[in-house]
Amino acid sequence: SWRLPSIVQELAATAKEPPSRYLIPEQERLGGQQLVGAEMPEPVPGIDLRRLLASDGAEEEAAKLRSALHNWGFFLVTNHGIETSLIDAVISASREFFRQPIKQKQEYSNLIGGKTWQLQGYGNDPVKTQDQVLDWSDRLHLRVEPEDERDLALWPRHPESFRDLLHDYTLNCKRVKDGILRAMAKLLELDDDCLLNQFGEKGSTYARFNYYPACPRPDLVLGIRPHSDVFVLTLLLMDKDVGGLQVLRDETWYSVPPVRDYALLVNVGVSLEIMTNGIFRGPVHRAVTNSEKERMSLAMFYSADLEKEIEPIAELLDEKQPARYKKIKFKDFVSAHYEHFSKRERVIESLKI
Ligand code: SIN
Ligand code: FE2
Repeated sequence: SWRLPSIVQELAATAKEPPSRYLIPEQERLGGQQLVGAEMPEPVPGIDLRRLLASDGAEEEAAKLRSALHNWGFFLVTNHGIETSLIDAVISASREFFRQPIKQKQEYSNLIGGKTWQLQGYGNDPVKTQDQVLDWSDRLHLRVEPEDERDLALWPRHPESFRDLLHDYTLNCKRVKDGILRAMAKLLELDDDCLLNQFGEKGSTYARFNYYPACPRPDLVLGIRPHSDVFVLTLLLMDKDVGGLQVLRDETWYSVPPVRDYALLVNVGVSLEIMTNGIFRGPVHRAVTNSEKERMSLAMFYSADLEKEIEPIAELLDEKQPARYKKIKFKDFVSAHYEHFSKRERVIESLKI
């Protein structure tokens, strides 16, 4: 057997160089400009949610949404109606959580009995193979919906406000996600609720708090390796000051600048790519680290019912547009994703017809 992942915060505090298990392959090293990433040829597309859902102005906003999805697969949502005070408080609470000594955080460890990995809790992604390159990040992963299935034992008690804030933030994000998925359904000329109905009986929401400690050699590691998000949609709250997110397009890594105006980044997930038969595509992205500054982000992932089968939506198919992906039970899709993720492959390739 091989060693379990370490808490990166601890390595960052003690190691002068990242340990070998964190070193990305030689040919992927981030020399010079690569660490900074290319400048996007246009600002990240911004979509005004209030206009998108309003009775007038919606068409113009929908056109912007269409082109953002076509060109990038992600966009910033503004005017989302989430109070800036709530966002500030959520950011402070997550900082406060990660700032605690590791021992305190281990109370919420994602290793049962210090050994068996589970999705929820504080720690790292699973180590699937011996030669797997590990990411320079720690995180806290919690299933926040359905509400009655929360594993509260893993919800931080410090800071004291953490649980209430996460609860409020969850409700607010749900409203934003519903609005966006309705607008996307409209773009596809489907019933407004068609995409929301794809989640099945028991869709889940996961909150993933990412913490990227400063790294003495940001050219040698990645905060998170290249991947596409597996679920339907992601709402990402980025660090306001420290950048690090990069998105791949036409073999170029573009850097996504930090966002100062409380906009949330919306990312298409691979599940939505399957449902829309490839019309909307989940962008490949990664996060780089910073030699001086730590960075944080909070992702909300919207997942279909694990027992549900996902497949291209029938209304989108005809003779000219046959299904491009096979049907798969969502549960199997997610575990296949984690297998591919550790090998740095894109799970959807395995479903192509
Ligand atoms: C992620 O892809 O899950 C995180 C991206 C980020 O931290 O910006
Ligand atoms: Fe991601």
